[in-house]
Amino acid sequence: MAEQAFVTLATNDSYAKGAMVLAKSLRKHKTSKKLVVLVGPHVSDQSRAVLHKIYDEVRLVDVMDSGDTAHLAMMKRPDLGVTLTKLHCWTLTHYSKCVFMDADTLVVSNIDELFDREELSAAPDPGWPDFFNSGVFVFRPSNETYSKLLQYCTEHGSFDGGDQGVLNGFFSDWSTADITKHLPFIYNMSSIAIYTYLPAFKQYGANAKVVHFLGQMKPWSYTYDPKQRRVRGDVQEASHPSFLLEWWALYSSEVVPMLFREYGDQPFHSGCEEDVAPSQDAPLPMSSAERKQKWEQGQADYMGIDSFDNIQKKLDAFLK
Ligand SMILES: *[C@@H]1O[C@H](CO)[C@@H](O)[C@H](O)[C@H]1NC(C)=O
Ligand SMILES: *[C@@H]1O[C@H](CO)[C@@H](O)[C@H](O)[C@H]1NC(C)=O
Ligand SMILES: *[C@@H]1O[C@H](CO)[C@@H](O)[C@H](O)[C@H]1NC(C)=O
Repeated sequence: MAEQAFVTLATNDSYAKGAMVLAKSLRKHKTSKKLVVLVGPHVSDQSRAVLHKIYDEVRLVDVMDSGDTAHLAMMKRPDLGVTLTKLHCWTLTHYSKCVFMDADTLVVSNIDELFDREELSAAPDPGWPDFFNSGVFVFRPSNETYSKLLQYCTEHGSFDGGDQGVLNGFFSDWSTADITKHLPFIYNMSSIAIYTYLPAFKQYGANAKVVHFLGQMKPWSYTYDPKQRRVRGDVQEASHPSFLLEWWALYSSEVVPMLFREYGDQPFHSGCEEDVAPSQDAPLPMSSAERKQKWEQGQADYMGIDSFDNIQKKLDAFLK
């Protein structure tokens, strides 16, 4: 029998961090399945090198380069770039069945039993329960399904501009066809849902299996103090603090050392506060999370807070 695999997608270095932690969490909970990551062309060599060490298979997906129907779909619908990359998971035909998980999910328990379910199994979306959330779903790789999906994309686009719209359109009988394809609440533990449905969380929280960090702020948008084991920044109510902490504990202890090894002498910001010791006398006008975000967007404040002088000062203070 062909093997089975968990599959995720990393489109840039931020999401690559998520993918690294997701794989570590799957291994920590002793999955017996293979781990596969699809990477887009914008992921750095260093991130790819680390992904190679953590995943069984790293597959580069460059839709613009694929020269097939995916390329054609991309020409017609350039807005669907990331979606088309995600749909590539159906081409993993050397696996008999797979579970796709977004890179902003974290596994807090073994979930191999998901492979007992059939395509397309998914949890209801918190916003609109007749639709499924495409953050976690069970599927069967198939070149035939893949080309039908591409055709669907080209003809119909996506009603929400992303993969959730395409998949709900294509698998449109999900809400009525077969109730075993509806995953229960424990696979549907979005961090927003935990807050909104606190009573339900109190009842089911101990059984949580997957946490999905929905919303703007992702775990890697924060900073972390490894000594005190505290997440810094405006920890919004939307992100359940204990799961956020769990993400950071895995990331800082198991992923960050691997990233530093790959980056060597080149600058790399892990998000852990030890990287750059905070200056004690100069209060920071921007939160470090905001600064980090700007930095990641290539908008470091080189004339001000991130100027060489300031960094030098911090290093001096740190070395003293
Ligand atoms: C990384 O990719 C995700 C989608 O895959 C996107 O939402 C996010 O804005 C990207 N982040 C950066 C810093 O480019
Ligand atoms: C699906 O297509 C890929 C790429 O064209 C090919 O390598 C693979 O063997 C195909 N799988 C099957 C089961 O035909
Ligand atoms: C999935 O989560 C939403 C809240 O986020 C909830 O309303 C819905 O009932 C859940 N689905 C199932 C099958 O438990």
